[in-house]
Amino acid sequence: MEVKEFCDRYYVDRNGTASLKWDALQTRFGDPDLISMWVADMEFRTPECVTDALAKRVAHGIFGYSFVPDSYYEAVMDWEKDHHGYQLKKEWMRVSPGVVAALYWSVNMYTQPGDSVIIMTPVYYPFHNCVKDSGRNLVTCDLIYDQGVYTIDYEGFEKAIVENGVKMYILCSPHNPAGRVWKEEELERMLEICARHNVLVISDEIHQDLVFGGHKHIPAATIAGGRYADRMITAFASSKTFNLATCLTSTIVIENEELRKTWDDFVKVYNSVEVNVFGITAVEAALRGGEEWYQGVKKVICSNYETVVEEMKEFPGVHIAPLEGTYLVFMDLRNYVPADDVRDFTQEKCRLAVDYGEWFGENWKGFIRLNMGTHPDIVKKAVENIKENLRKRNA
Ligand SMILES: Cc1ncc(COP(=O)(O)O)c(C=O)c1O
Repeated sequence: MEVKEFCDRYYVDRNGTASLKWDALQTRFGDPDLISMWVADMEFRTPECVTDALAKRVAHGIFGYSFVPDSYYEAVMDWEKDHHGYQLKKEWMRVSPGVVAALYWSVNMYTQPGDSVIIMTPVYYPFHNCVKDSGRNLVTCDLIYDQGVYTIDYEGFEKAIVENGVKMYILCSPHNPAGRVWKEEELERMLEICARHNVLVISDEIHQDLVFGGHKHIPAATIAGGRYADRMITAFASSKTFNLATCLTSTIVIENEELRKTWDDFVKVYNSVEVNVFGITAVEAALRGGEEWYQGVKKVICSNYETVVEEMKEFPGVHIAPLEGTYLVFMDLRNYVPADDVRDFTQEKCRLAVDYGEWFGENWKGFIRLNMGTHPDIVKKAVENIKENLRKRNA
């Protein structure tokens, strides 16, 4: 499906629907009239196969206790095998109400208060919060940054692990907000360092399906023929892919039996709730019937990204990370706007609500993250506003 047809069919104005992205601008940004480009969800209705499956489930009219049916596991297994070459087993899989919940749980079940947990910054802010909120010691290692290109500081990573006696690494693959899809060699080097120092890896692969331009997502658990899978938890979901965030249904893969037991014991105590039948229904339907929609949304994201890059050529000093994966574009404005002024510039002048670089790590002030999962007209307007105000600053 081409971009125009996709947008005509699926774009929805979300104002007035208790949307965090659009209706919480006053509470989050102190201004209700911004163009919303923050938080990672989309203005596109999920595919008809999902709404049909949910409607059918609702029409059934019984909302008694349920369980995760085999058909859910099978749909996830088929998707992972077909799209990412990862052959899962049902007994490895668990369901959680979101990936962030799984991160918090993992920190709490696999580490002790005061233990060190490492993340590679800039990175999705709940990575920071799940460590700090849990009374663990947050250790950060900045990615190496060169004019919009992000690579791994392996020496810094290993040194930080050794110096802090790090117990856990939360990997973001693909990486939000750097837009990187880690290559096999990169993953292997990270995992090898973690194995050498007995660091448990939590691999957040929620953006696994949204990869572009020939880049291929490689599940960390499959690296080196699965050599590191035994010391790893993988978390993914269909929530980014099919815009289902509030269905609160994610899949967690734990190949190691002992780690699975720890997970089950913890979840029994802290999350003794039954499954949400709507989430299960939605995810299964999306994975089984959503391929055409999925290919369509990727075209929209790609085209929106190309618009940003093309339009911003007027300001070559604005560095934009290549969009290998995710639908989030990290933009470095510092060559034109001092880092301390970027918030005022973005919100007051450009009238945009974005995620700010410093939310992802203290050294990233002056960067903004823009969401490409939206209508091309919104992206164009946002970029026009940025250009117009950069021109005014430079005049
Ligand atoms: C890397 C990453 N992990 C997790 C999430 C959110 O996961 P969930 O909504 O399943 O809690 C996001 C959302 O943007 C994300 O970018």
